[in-house]
Amino acid sequence: MTGMSIVTVALGERTYEVVVGPGALSGLGARLKPLVSRGKVAIITDEQVAALHLAAAKASLAEAGIGHLGDIILPAGEQTKSFAHLEDVCDRLIGMEIERKDMVVALGGGVIGDLTGFAAAIVKRGLDFVQVPTTLLAQIDSSVGGKTAINTKRGKNLVGAFHQPRLVLADTAILDTLPPRELKAGYAEVVKVALLADGEFFNWLEKHGPDALSGDMQARVAMVSRAVMIKAEIVAEDERETGRRALLNLGHTFGHALEAETGFSARLLHGESVSIGMVIAATLSQRMGLITPGDLARIKAHLRATGLKQCQADIEGGPFPPERLIAHMAHDKKVADGKVTFILLRGLGDAFTTRDVDPGLLRQVLAET
Ligand SMILES: NC(=O)c1ccc[n+]([C@@H]2O[C@H](COP(=O)([O-])OP(=O)(O)OC[C@H]3O[C@@H](n4cnc5c(N)ncnc54)[C@H](O)[C@@H]3O)[C@@H](O)[C@H]2O)c1
Ligand SMILES: [Zn+2]
Repeated sequence: MTGMSIVTVALGERTYEVVVGPGALSGLGARLKPLVSRGKVAIITDEQVAALHLAAAKASLAEAGIGHLGDIILPAGEQTKSFAHLEDVCDRLIGMEIERKDMVVALGGGVIGDLTGFAAAIVKRGLDFVQVPTTLLAQIDSSVGGKTAINTKRGKNLVGAFHQPRLVLADTAILDTLPPRELKAGYAEVVKVALLADGEFFNWLEKHGPDALSGDMQARVAMVSRAVMIKAEIVAEDERETGRRALLNLGHTFGHALEAETGFSARLLHGESVSIGMVIAATLSQRMGLITPGDLARIKAHLRATGLKQCQADIEGGPFPPERLIAHMAHDKKVADGKVTFILLRGLGDAFTTRDVDPGLLRQVLAET
């Protein structure tokens, strides 16, 4: 039997724990109990997750004797991170007569976590909330760190707030019901944290990553908790992204350009765009003499071994004209004074930001990757 692993996100009075392990969901009630001693709980989830896991979540709350205000079940998918759904969620929470001693539980992937967290940040000027992430991406990335947001017609995540959860429960067995393509897409973000901060972890992933994906629970717990530890450490150092936290966007500037070019559609999942984006960043780094051809080859080989996309030709309709991708990048929110900030590698596990990239080289790498 694989045990639970606990990672602390150290943020002073906002400090919280991330509990990682198979069956963590069944402990939801027991772990929530001290946080809602006088209150009740509302669960927000999506239709797909509700059908699979809502009953277990409710059973755990009931077993712990925690009062239940109700459930809000939303359509699955990125379109749910909208003003319309935010308004609906806020209205329904208020309709349940939720109070500040109560607790909101986000049960789902990053979409549910981001929307729920934002609603919790603004209803009654701030309610406590707990993240129960059910996708790999949400377990190692979106549920930790307190960024919450919705999308607007002008772009993704443009309206939101920093609002830290009180607890994160990452049930690694819950990932067994996740479609394999979503699991792999989330894995790209695991590779991302290894590449930007922890070369040893990248070595480990080369050996054990495929096992963790295919259901070896011990490997999966080790993978999720290590990735969460890296994110927790970066967030503790730079909660509001004024510095080092920006490194978590490795592969994302290029990835977002590809997502924009494919209309944020099912042709390219976010994690898949990050996978290709990391290869572009690594290729640029190699051409600039920052990493060796051997390092670049290892990154590509690992992504290939786990079945992730590596170049634009892997996308239906790709590759795309470099000029179009550069135009999307210029629109990205990480642009300051009209210049794009790049996150590059100077080793496996060592990323840095720079605005100094030769435009000719960039165009060439975009055309080739
Ligand atoms: N806040 C942050 O720091 C942060 C970081 C990264 C990404 N994000 C956001 O996260 C979102 C993407 O999250 P995601 O990839 O989890 O997508 P998602 O929430 O849309 O989930 C993907 C799909 O998997 C389904 N699903 C979820 N858990 C399941 C399970 N256990 N079994 C079966 N199906 C399941 C969902 O219903 C959905 O259809 C984006 O909106 C992105 O902007 C936020
Ligand atoms: Zn991402």
